[in-house]
Amino acid sequence: MDFGPARNSTLHTVDRWRKDGIYPLFPVITEAATTRARIRQQRSMHPGDAHTGDHPVSVFGSADYLGLARHPEVVEGAVEAARRFGTGTYAIQAVGGYTELHEALEEATAAWFGLPSALLFPTGMQANLGVLDSLAGPRDLVFTDRFNHQSIAMGVRLSGAGAHVFGHNDPEHLEKLLQQTLREGHTGRRLIMVDGLFSADGDIAPLVQIADLAERYNALLVVDEAHSAGALGPHGRGAAELLGVLDRVDVLTGTFSKAFASTGGFACAGPDIVHLFRHTANTYLLSLGLPPASVGAALAALTVLAREGTERRRRLDDNAQALRAGLREAGIGTAGSAAHVVVVPVGTMDRTARVARRLAERGLLVGPLLHPVVPAGGGRLRLGVCAEHTTDDLTHAVHLISAVLADEGGQR
Ligand SMILES: Cc1ncc(COP(=O)(O)O)c(C=O)c1O
Repeated sequence: MDFGPARNSTLHTVDRWRKDGIYPLFPVITEAATTRARIRQQRSMHPGDAHTGDHPVSVFGSADYLGLARHPEVVEGAVEAARRFGTGTYAIQAVGGYTELHEALEEATAAWFGLPSALLFPTGMQANLGVLDSLAGPRDLVFTDRFNHQSIAMGVRLSGAGAHVFGHNDPEHLEKLLQQTLREGHTGRRLIMVDGLFSADGDIAPLVQIADLAERYNALLVVDEAHSAGALGPHGRGAAELLGVLDRVDVLTGTFSKAFASTGGFACAGPDIVHLFRHTANTYLLSLGLPPASVGAALAALTVLAREGTERRRRLDDNAQALRAGLREAGIGTAGSAAHVVVVPVGTMDRTARVARRLAERGLLVGPLLHPVVPAGGGRLRLGVCAEHTTDDLTHAVHLISAVLADEGGQR
């Protein structure tokens, strides 16, 4: 079937990878712990390429940054919630899908971030789409970092607002765009939205400068803390807390699917804004709410982290620093990685796919980031560090990456 030029070309690449035996995506996990898993060896389309069975891998592709996914209290939180309210919500939240657990998680989430109110969305992606849907329309302008998560670009398109994309972590460019729209006499709402910790680059947004610009140009500031919530900042409130600007953020979005060891999205803001989301964000109103088990797990994770978060964040930070230092000592660049998301630039899509596949075969599971998630030619490995990784895990990862990149003729 003809799916159009862009999709045909992607499918062509995928078929070629399968034929060449380098297809690195969708490894089938057959047994998992936080930092270790067994994966089913994928078959390529090579004639005679045998199915070699399951093999163990060390996992550096997980977002269970604080190691809570198998914590007994978190698992029990999920089980107990499912026992009490069943496996789903069976109605949209406005008319019967909103339990007292959902209400408790909204309150606990707002309290976690020290912000007035919070609203839960089915996923972090839907939180971003819903926030943009509610806050921006065709008369408005949204300013976004070029390397923001795709959900933000999608949200801007869906909102119909004017899109202004500034260079990655480039507040000067942002200011030029803001000035230009003022000169053009724009009168609608202005909104600036950035990732706190960039998921494909591992660096942190310059939120102090961006908050200054938001104030100077009367724009709302929205920060997506998907990868930083729980994991960064003295209290685990994210990149804005780390940089001391949390009180200057108008809306904070995030997900329970990473450091909070569950699933589901949230948006925190002042009561008026959350009231607006509750009654106008279609991804909240028209999609069923979080399953009770996810709510119960997230509530339990917040309780565990209130007790153990500081220590877990310290271990996460130590591990992230050790991994970056180990890679550096092995002569491997990590671009702007500044926290527990560590990226290793590799180059073309084929090379990145091949390296990720070879690493999986040799016992290391990492995420290959490929075009269009990253710019063409900017393929990279994405390593998610966890508090539960041991020194041996980190050394093993550096050793394997170094060996496979050397086989490939070094880093590009
Ligand atoms: C920066 C960012 N925002 C939002 C999301 C979406 O979160 P969820 O998985 O809950 O949809 C992700 C997912 O990885 C992300 O990286």
